[in-house]
Amino acid sequence: MYRDYTCGELRTEHIGQTVTLSGWVQKNRNLGGMTFVDIRDRYGITQLVFNMETHKELCEQARKLGREFVIQAIGTVAERSNKNTQIPTGEIEILVETLNVLNESELPPFTIEDNTDGGDELRMQYRYLDLRRNVVRKNLVLRHQMAFEVRNYLNNQKFIETETPVLIKSTPEGARDFIVPSRMNEGEFYALPQSPQVFKQLLMVAGFDRYFQIVKCFRDEDLRADRQPEFTQIDCEMAFVEQEDILSTFEGMTKHLFKTIRGVELNDFPRMPYAEAMEFYGSDKPDIRFDMKFHDMTELVKNSGFVVFDSAEYVGGICAEGCAGYTRKELDGLTDFVKKPQIGAKGLIYLKCNEDGTLKSSVDKFFDSEKLEGWKAHFNAKPGDLILVISGDKSKALKQLCELRLEMGKRMGLRDKNKFAPLWVVDFPLLEWDEESERYFAMHHPFTSPKKEDFDLLETDPGKVRANAYDLVINGVEIGGGSIRIHNDELQQKMFDLLGFTKEEAEEQFGFLMNAFKYGAPPHGGVAFGFDRWVSLFAGLDSIRDVIAFPKNNAGRDVMIDSPSPIAKEQLDELNLILAEKKK
Ligand code: AMO
Repeated sequence: MYRDYTCGELRTEHIGQTVTLSGWVQKNRNLGGMTFVDIRDRYGITQLVFNMETHKELCEQARKLGREFVIQAIGTVAERSNKNTQIPTGEIEILVETLNVLNESELPPFTIEDNTDGGDELRMQYRYLDLRRNVVRKNLVLRHQMAFEVRNYLNNQKFIETETPVLIKSTPEGARDFIVPSRMNEGEFYALPQSPQVFKQLLMVAGFDRYFQIVKCFRDEDLRADRQPEFTQIDCEMAFVEQEDILSTFEGMTKHLFKTIRGVELNDFPRMPYAEAMEFYGSDKPDIRFDMKFHDMTELVKNSGFVVFDSAEYVGGICAEGCAGYTRKELDGLTDFVKKPQIGAKGLIYLKCNEDGTLKSSVDKFFDSEKLEGWKAHFNAKPGDLILVISGDKSKALKQLCELRLEMGKRMGLRDKNKFAPLWVVDFPLLEWDEESERYFAMHHPFTSPKKEDFDLLETDPGKVRANAYDLVINGVEIGGGSIRIHNDELQQKMFDLLGFTKEEAEEQFGFLMNAFKYGAPPHGGVAFGFDRWVSLFAGLDSIRDVIAFPKNNAGRDVMIDSPSPIAKEQLDELNLILAEKKK
């Protein structure tokens, strides 16, 4: 028997017992007469004591233990004279009688403690050592608990977890596919699924009624803090449902997770039409932990002789409560912030509504105090508030204001990681016009159903058609999204027409789906949640990498196993692949 207790388990009630522990050496301190060794496993740390006077040989053996040696210690639990209140086992220690080295370890490349000296890249290269650290492992434990509670909730709601294939044909979700060559079918390729979208719809045709899967999805897109090339979805689909049924089922699941995992009781989630989210927050994923909505002042400042405003399609701003005291330097800093290339504003105009009732703006030359009073009233600003204004092309200005609002929210301490503000963003447009290719793209995916009341617009003004599509947004993060699907082959065909597919292309890519729809497809809809994003939100982390056991770096590489990597010529030959010459 390697152990009868874990390294996080022993307390004062065990004093006097003989116990066996196994684990890794975290620290080894030699204090002359005594040697103290901290032994660690995933449950905690326990102090082992070796006494030079009574157990000379054993103590000498202990002194040779290096960091991360795997050891077994047998000894008696004793009360510590010098108690450590920082750890649960801090009141006891083990007076060791027998020590077995189960395996030696080379000196690890970084210290395996909560505060490590290892840089990002090094820790990724030795991810198995990084995972020994409490702060990293606890995110994966959280992930496990969340997956368990998702299964628990959905199982109780009669959902069936069903696996769908990983070697498939490409599904159009907007990103690039990862491609796998087929050895047995020369010149042909599988694609890894960007999501199990079409399979879950086929399961509804098959009468499964309620499906879910915690499933890996693959998208070859540029990486960001909230994106990985392979990530996990909680993928769900239901038959005989309308949008309302889906929203209430998954609002229930969200509340269940918040309650069981975070101990937070959430109120019913607000719903916000996409158009409103864009107009007041400049984003389809507004962070509503704080208000600071946009105020459109285009009409208010029209024809004022200030050319920047007069030439702008849109003028709008936010009111930052209590920020009128911002210094010149702080205001310059904000201007620099919005002028960063990633944000791209040409400038920032401010109006300070001073505590003493006076007004001071950066455009005093163009607007007299009466006009500025008008601004103040328009924003409902109080003495002490700061109004920040951006103008220009409407869609760009809204995005820039969105960034400014989030930045101000951060500076003003309004984006508390322990406060959660979920909402459903609904009524997304069905289609998006792409200037470059001069065609419509599906905003969600081609299987999303238009709203009944907008059916007529499909012929006359497709860009205005709204979809039965919804996103779950929490704290400004898109946690999930879904839609009610088209279940009629004629409407699906019409949608493909709008998206510019010829009959042959539609048949080639989706013939199987349209064919299935001929055999009694029930009304259905679903949703998929970004599981990694959800875990990182609960863990209070900004990057999803930290909640994935073996993530890829920003270049899409796994630096631990060194992948992707070239393959042998024989493998290439077998797959009938010839590599193009490397571009210079
Ligand atoms: P969608 O493309 O919106 O919908 O994806 C659903 C959710 O998955 C998460 N997500 C990602 N997480 C990490 N890395 C990525 N690269 C990544 N891409 C997406 C997001 C997103 O909200 N089949 C549809 C769902 C449906 O209609 O039922 C789909 O995949 O949190």
